[in-house]
Amino acid sequence: MNAEPRYNDLYYKRTTPHSQIIDTVQDKVVSLHDLPAPIDWQTLFGNTYPVEVEIGFGKGRFLLEASKQFPLINYIGVERAQKYVEITRERFRKYMRHFSIEKNSGMFKNVRLAWTDANYFLTRYVPDESVQAYHIYFPDPWPKARQQKRRIFRNKDFLDAITRTLMLGGGKLYVATDFAEYFTEIQERLALWTKLKPIPLNSSDYEHIATNFEMKYRLEGRKIYRAVYEKS
Ligand SMILES: C[S@@+](CC[C@H](N)C(=O)[O-])C[C@H]1O[C@@H](n2cnc3c(N)ncnc32)[C@H](O)[C@@H]1O
Repeated sequence: MNAEPRYNDLYYKRTTPHSQIIDTVQDKVVSLHDLPAPIDWQTLFGNTYPVEVEIGFGKGRFLLEASKQFPLINYIGVERAQKYVEITRERFRKYMRHFSIEKNSGMFKNVRLAWTDANYFLTRYVPDESVQAYHIYFPDPWPKARQQKRRIFRNKDFLDAITRTLMLGGGKLYVATDFAEYFTEIQERLALWTKLKPIPLNSSDYEHIATNFEMKYRLEGRKIYRAVYEKS
C-alpha cells in the first residue's frame, strides 16, 4: 500500500477542473485556471494588505468572524467540498442581509473563497513568502488505518508549500484538532520542517474565534489540541 496518495497531474486533472475563486460580496466567480499562476494577491484583492489562508473552511464560521474582526487582513479560504463552499457563501449573504450591509460598504471585501483542492492551490498558485498565516482547523483525521494516508499533514509537497509560501520572519501556521493521535503525528511531522518552529499559544490573536467544529466539540466537552508555528 502507498504511504501517501499520488498527488500528480493526473489526480488534479480529475479533481480540480471546476476550481473557482469566489467574491462572496460581489457574487463574482472566476475560474481559477483563468488567473495567472502564481496569483498576484494585490490584483486579486485590490489592496496591499497581508494575506492569510484558511484551509478546509467547512461551514465558514472562522472565515466570517476573522474577516469581520480584522478588516485590514485579506483572507482566502480554500475548500474542496462544493457543499461547504455553498453553505459558506450563504453564511456571508445571510449575515449581510440580516445586518442590512450594502454590497459597496466595503465589508468583507477582504475575503475570497477558493473552491479547489488545497494541495493543488498551494503548490501551483500561492507565491513564495506571500502568506502571513495559514489556519488549519480540525483537518480530516481519517482515523481508519487504511485511510490515514489521506491526512493532509502526511503530504510532503503540502508541507513544503506551506513552508515556501509563509512570509519570512513571522509567518505563522495555526493548527487545532480534537484528535490526540493526529495531533502527535502533526507535531512529529512538522518537527522535520526545521524552518517552522513551535511558538507559545498565547501569541495567537485567533484563540477567541471558534470554527464550527470547535463550537460543536466544546459543547461535547472534548479536549482541543492547538499549536502555532512560526517560520524563521
Ligand atoms: C473536519 S472539517 C473541518 C471544517 C472547519 N475547519 C471547522 O473546523 O469547522 C475538514 C474540512 O476540510 C476540507 N478539506 C479536506 N481536505 C481538503 C483539501 N485537500 N483541500 C481543501 N479542503 C479540504 C473538508 O472538505 C472539510 O470541509
